[in-house]
Formats: sequence, structure tokens, C-alpha cells
Amino acid sequence: MTVKKKWTVIPGFLALAAAATLLSAYSGASSSQGLRVEQPVKFVHSPHVQKAGMNCLYCHSGANKSPDPGNASVATCMGCHLLVKPGAPEIKKVAAFYAKGLPIPWNRVHKVPEYVHFPHMRHVNAGVTCQSCHGQIQNQGKQGPDTNYVPVTQANSLNMGWCVNCHVQGYKPAEGARLAGMPVTPALEAMPAKKARYDCSTCHY
Ligand code: HEC
Ligand code: HEC
Ligand code: HEC
Ligand code: HEC
Ligand code: HEC
Repeated sequence: MTVKKKWTVIPGFLALAAAATLLSAYSGASSSQGLRVEQPVKFVHSPHVQKAGMNCLYCHSGANKSPDPGNASVATCMGCHLLVKPGAPEIKKVAAFYAKGLPIPWNRVHKVPEYVHFPHMRHVNAGVTCQSCHGQIQNQGKQGPDTNYVPVTQANSLNMGWCVNCHVQGYKPAEGARLAGMPVTPALEAMPAKKARYDCSTCHY
């Protein structure tokens, strides 16, 4: 039961740019950059991505196929954790959900309003690295789940000005690679910035 809004088409790119700037200045006030929420299990990205070398898509397998990345099922978690640290307190919580046949009720961190259309696959398939938008998430929980646990943190505002700025200026592959800790080759440096549409109906419909 979603109410689809019709967005007035503003002719002329000047009007468009001006409107976008004004709106982003306004919406900056409601930015949730830095947002953190507590989670039912103190999941930590660092050991999975850095120690075990897992790819983001191993757990967020929809990121290159659908608008929403999704998450690993509790059965996937237990595929490893039946053997990996089964006695750790946070793993016992995971096992308890698994035993009851319940999914882990993760609390959502990043969220754009209902009237905004954000397709993950378009960005991921264009080569935009996860870290360009989500920051250094591979370091989350470096300290472990027990001592000084720091939840996933929203690295960017996700407001309209932020989106439009990248669409207008273009995504720079070398910069994205640098943020992701990937080698910045001369070939990447030479790649032109990848621009995207920024008429209102790109993101609103
Ligand atoms: C072992 C599985 C696993 C891997 C690998 C993994 N994640 Fe996650 N990710 C999770 C789980 C579980 C959560 C939910 C718990 C939380 O938010 O702390 C999560 C949460 C997130 C969130 C926040 C979701 C929200 O609610 O807004 C982002 C963004 C994210 N991961 C990005 C990444 C990126 C980028 C990588 C690769 C560098 C990655 N993840 C690798 C399992 C994984
Ligand atoms: C491919 C195997 C694998 C999968 C799948 C996996 N993990 Fe892990 N997990 C690991 C490894 C390896 C460690 C690091 C263990 C260590 O520190 O020795 C770890 C560590 C953890 C820890 C920290 C435990 C502690 O006390 O140090 C938690 C919590 C955790 N995982 C939860 C999850 C959850 C929740 C999922 C599913 C979303 C998941 N894991 C999926 C392999 C996996
Ligand atoms: C261009 C910026 C951008 C890139 C690149 C990006 N994300 Fe996101 N991500 C977002 C935004 C914006 C949201 C909130 C989307 C919404 O509310 O529909 C989000 C939400 C998420 C969520 C929570 C939503 C859910 O379905 O669970 C996860 C997990 C996530 N991203 C993982 C990833 C992973 C993994 C990658 C890389 C493979 C990635 N993202 C690449 C901007 C980005
Ligand atoms: C870091 C740069 C970057 C950021 C930030 C970004 N985008 Fe994009 N976006 C791109 C690129 C590059 C493409 C072009 C993909 C292509 O050409 O296939 C794109 C494509 C899109 C598309 C598909 C456009 C089409 O032609 O159909 C939509 C919709 C979109 N982005 C929405 C958003 C929204 C909403 C946000 C903010 C929440 C956002 N983007 C933030 C880089 C970005
Ligand atoms: C690249 C994606 C993108 C484009 C293009 C875009 N918007 Fe947005 N817009 C967003 C996002 C994301 C939000 C929600 C976050 C926020 O409030 O900044 C938003 C919010 C809004 C809001 C609500 C503002 C508020 O703070 O309540 C209005 C009104 C709006 N947009 C109108 C427009 C108009 C008019 C255009 C064309 C000039 C446009 N948008 C183009 C992404 C976009």
C-alpha cells in the first residue's frame, strides 16, 4: 500500500541544480550521519572480512542483483559457527535463534525515505565500491564483540545533496578503490568519472 508521488518536472538544468542545492541544504538538517543502533547480536565485520577474507557479497548477496543487499540467513552463520567459536557468548545467541528456527532480528541502520528509489545493483555493477558510501565498514568491531564493541556506523548523510553531488560530479574509480583499500593502478587513475542521471524522476517516482 505505497502512495506513489508524482514529481513535477522542472524544465531547465539551472532550475534543477538550484532546486537540488536548496533542498539538500534543507535536508542536511535531518542528516543521520554517524547513526549507530544496538543489535540483538554483537556481530563484528572485522574478523569476517579481514581475518577470514570473506567478500561482502558472501553475506549481502543481493547487492549486485537487486535494489536491497539483504543479509545472510542464520543457517549460513551456523554453517561456520557450529565449529567456529561455538562457546562464545555472542555465538550462543546466534545458535539460540537457529534452534528456534527464527531469523536474527537485525535493526536497520541505513535507510532512505519510502519516496526515494535506491537500486544497489546499479551502483555495484557500475563499480562503485561499498566503502564509497558505507565507509571503512571492514574495520567495524575490530576490538571484538565483548570489549569496546562499536556497532556499524552510518558514514555518510545519505541525503539528497550527497546523492546528487556524486551523480553530477561523477564517481571517480581511483578514489573509490582507495577508499576500499584496493590497489590504485594507473589504469584506474586514467578512468573518467562515471556520471549518472539527476533529473528528479531518477530517484523519485
Ligand atoms: C559474515 C557475513 C557478513 C559479511 C562478510 C559482511 N557483512 Fe555486512 N552485515 C552482516 C550482518 C549480520 C549485519 C547486521 C548486523 C549489524 O548491522 O551490525 C551487517 C550489516 C551491514 C551494514 C549495515 C546494514 C544496515 O542496517 O544499514 C552494511 C552497510 C554492511 N553490513 C556492509 C558490508 C560490507 C560493505 C561488507 C564487505 C566489506 C560486509 N558488510 C560484509 C554480515 C556480513
Ligand atoms: C565462512 C565462515 C563464517 C560465517 C558464514 C560466519 N562467520 Fe562469524 N566468524 C567467523 C570467523 C572465522 C570468526 C573469527 C573467529 C576468531 O576470532 O577466531 C567469526 C567471528 C564471529 C563473531 C565474534 C565471536 C567472538 O566471540 O569472537 C560473531 C559474533 C560472529 N562471527 C557472528 C556471525 C554471524 C551472526 C554470522 C551470520 C550472519 C556469521 N558470524 C557468519 C566465520 C564465519
Ligand atoms: C552509492 C552508495 C552505495 C553503495 C555503493 C553501496 N551502498 Fe549499501 N546502502 C546505501 C544506501 C543509500 C542504503 C539505504 C537504502 C534504502 O534505504 O533503501 C544502503 C543500505 C545497505 C544495507 C542495508 C539494507 C539491507 O537491505 O539490508 C546493506 C546491508 C548494504 N547497504 C550493504 C552494501 C554492500 C555490501 C555494498 C557493496 C557491495 C553496498 N551496500 C554498496 C548506499 C550504498
Ligand atoms: C559515490 C557516487 C554515488 C552516490 C553517492 C550515489 N550514486 Fe546513484 N549512481 C551512481 C552511478 C555512477 C550511477 C550510474 C550507474 C550506471 O550508469 O549504470 C548511479 C545510478 C543511480 C540510479 C539509476 C539511474 C538510472 O539511469 O536509471 C539511481 C536511481 C540512483 N543512482 C540513485 C541514487 C540515490 C537515491 C542516491 C543517494 C541515496 C545515490 N544514487 C547516490 C553513483 C552514485
Ligand atoms: C540522485 C537522487 C536524487 C535526485 C536526482 C533527486 N532527489 Fe530528491 N531526494 C533524494 C533523497 C535521497 C532524499 C531523502 C533524503 C533527504 O531528505 O535529503 C530526497 C528528498 C527530497 C525531498 C524531501 C526533502 C525533505 O527534506 O523533506 C523533496 C521535496 C525532493 N527530494 C525533491 C526533488 C526534486 C524536485 C528533484 C529534482 C530537482 C529531486 N528531488 C532530485 C534523492 C534525489
